[in-house]
Amino acid sequence: MKTVKTKPPLLKYYFLTFASLSFLILFFFFSNQRHHSLTSFLTTTAATTHASSASEVDLKIRPGYTSYDAYIQRQLNKTLNPKLRKIWMTRDWDRKIHVFSNFLRELQLQNLLSNSSKSLCIGARVGQEVEALKRVGVSDSVGIDLVPSPPLVLKGDFHNQPFDNETFDFEFSNVFDHALYPRKFVGEIERTLKPDGVCVLHVALSTRADKYSANDLYSVKPLIHLFQRSQLVRVRKVDGFGLDTEVIFRKKKATQRS
Ligand SMILES: *[C@@H]1O[C@H](CO)[C@@H](O)[C@H](O)[C@H]1NC(C)=O
Ligand SMILES: *[C@@H]1O[C@H](CO)[C@@H](O)[C@H](O)[C@H]1NC(C)=O
Ligand SMILES: *[C@@H]1O[C@H](CO)[C@@H](O)[C@H](O)[C@H]1NC(C)=O
Repeated sequence: MKTVKTKPPLLKYYFLTFASLSFLILFFFFSNQRHHSLTSFLTTTAATTHASSASEVDLKIRPGYTSYDAYIQRQLNKTLNPKLRKIWMTRDWDRKIHVFSNFLRELQLQNLLSNSSKSLCIGARVGQEVEALKRVGVSDSVGIDLVPSPPLVLKGDFHNQPFDNETFDFEFSNVFDHALYPRKFVGEIERTLKPDGVCVLHVALSTRADKYSANDLYSVKPLIHLFQRSQLVRVRKVDGFGLDTEVIFRKKKATQRS
């Protein structure tokens, strides 16, 4: 027996407890510095049941949706607002297409998008980004939203995309903040992207998104965690209609592991 040489088990236990507590205290100290509260940590942990990383603290699901239907109704309220739709189709139309086209041309130059890329815009509303794709030469492009806007935008819920596995070479979205289930939102992108396909997200970090947002994102860490089947290509600051960060992922080839 070697019991004489090892520390008494009780002491080990106290040490471990002390270490865990210190870690937790430090953790909450830093969380609070970033204007997070214990409640936000707990909600996030509850909302993302499979959370395996502290990075999930930076993604907070907004409380208050009693059912998926209530969430959809609230999203529809904005999307169907006649005044907003008119603005999107008139004053916003050319301005947004211009800005989207500039983003897309850069992606073309960086070989992240080509004219032959089969492309999807998620949560495209009236479809300015789809029109922009077509104008820069990416002709096989379509959008989805809860409310269709033919011919550019088909009816589709990003939590359950109406497409087969491995359909697209390129997906773009600037509505991540509207996702009630970010895991599903990303899972659907990774499902419908072909291997090697590219996903470009424009997101708002730390700035308060609009009142129709269903989540708040404080860093890109949760995205990197959610895109399990992809590799991060790059992150950069952009100026995209209130969204300040561009995050690009590339889906791994089927043979690639981990
Ligand atoms: C949607 O808008 C209508 C009228 O503007 C309002 O009565 C209704 O409560 C709203 N529904 C939701 C889910 O916000
Ligand atoms: C892509 O399409 C645009 C518009 O038709 C064209 O100007 C551009 O040269 C094309 N790019 C390539 C690499 O063929
Ligand atoms: C589509 O992909 C999902 C997950 O990526 C998988 O669970 C499902 O079996 C696939 N369906 C088909 C028809 O291959």
